[in-house]
Amino acid sequence: MSEHGFGFVGTGVVADFHARALSTLPGARLVAVTDVDPERARAFAAKHHVADEPDLAALLARRDVDVVTVCVPSGQHAEVGVQAARAGKHLVVEKPIDVSLAAADKLIAAARAAGVTVTVISQHRFDPGLADLRRLIDEGAFGRLLLGQVATKWWRGQDYYDSAGWRGTWAMDGGALMNQGIHYTDLLRWYLGPVAEVSALAVTQAHDIEAEDCALATVRFMSGAVGTITATTSVIPGFAQRLEISGTEGSAIVEDGVLVYRGFRDGSEVRSAGSTRGAAADAAGLEVAAHRAQLADLLAALEEGRPPAVTAADGRATLELVCAVYQSAREGAPVRLA
Ligand SMILES: NC(=O)c1ccc[n+]([C@@H]2O[C@H](COP(=O)([O-])OP(=O)(O)OC[C@H]3O[C@@H](n4cnc5c(N)ncnc54)[C@H](O)[C@@H]3O)[C@@H](O)[C@H]2O)c1
Repeated sequence: MSEHGFGFVGTGVVADFHARALSTLPGARLVAVTDVDPERARAFAAKHHVADEPDLAALLARRDVDVVTVCVPSGQHAEVGVQAARAGKHLVVEKPIDVSLAAADKLIAAARAAGVTVTVISQHRFDPGLADLRRLIDEGAFGRLLLGQVATKWWRGQDYYDSAGWRGTWAMDGGALMNQGIHYTDLLRWYLGPVAEVSALAVTQAHDIEAEDCALATVRFMSGAVGTITATTSVIPGFAQRLEISGTEGSAIVEDGVLVYRGFRDGSEVRSAGSTRGAAADAAGLEVAAHRAQLADLLAALEEGRPPAVTAADGRATLELVCAVYQSAREGAPVRLA
């Protein structure tokens, strides 16, 4: 396998997870980083023993960087990604792909024109329990899917939102659904397929932020299945992220990436202990293994000349669902996607 040189744009909270994930991956090496805050870039570069570049242009000019990881605030993902694509770099874009469909489309068009590969981070698709559930659904273990429900009921204090000016703003972040709930929203769409219609409510109850800290939605899928999405950062003490799926032959429950329950029409059941860690009450509670698995998939995709498991189109489709939830909440009416 040829070695890929990575360059990070943005050296805040999530960049550290990417650096730790890359450090254990054969075939990948973090080469250089840049940040609009030069002190932050310098400290990060020193910690990870890599170069710090003064700006994006300098990072993109490096021939030893062929993959750029975009770890800047969400509303700048496309702006940075377009420039990197034009420089011929493959892209790892943190979730969400951006906060508007127009921005996402610019990024997708630039990547297509440049012929570069893009993966949008949805690391929980790589959690072992969720990958097992995907396989079981594909094998028909639960029959025809009828109902899917996802809930991210987390706690983030005002200090979390105050830790960076972009958090909780509409232009750069969005609220509990766009930032935290998007992971399990992506899983719901992954399992149940394209969405036909959404009805939603969104409120800001417990934080001084522009965007919502609690969103609730009902979803009708093109397949005829229905579902619900709950995303909040206002729940004390914060719970495991949860996904429940029921089909004509059985049901499954996932908690924080662990398939904790399977039950079938014949009465058979399988129960497993849940995970003990998670990001329910602390943004730093994230595990690095799932990011590592998604990055490994990207490297394999580049090697094999195939699309990655999570494409820019996947990121866009999940963003479209999130935007439809917001639109429905704003307008107080259902929004049709198809
Ligand atoms: N996959 C996950 O589980 C996960 C977890 C946390 C964050 N994220 C995502 O990662 C992104 C970053 O989040 P974070 O918590 O690391 O934010 P952060 O505020 O800790 O870090 C962002 C960094 O980007 C820098 N920056 C801002 N604009 C820039 C620009 N134009 N060019 C270069 N640097 C720039 C800032 O100075 C800051 O250092 C967000 O989109 C967020 O949704 C994903």
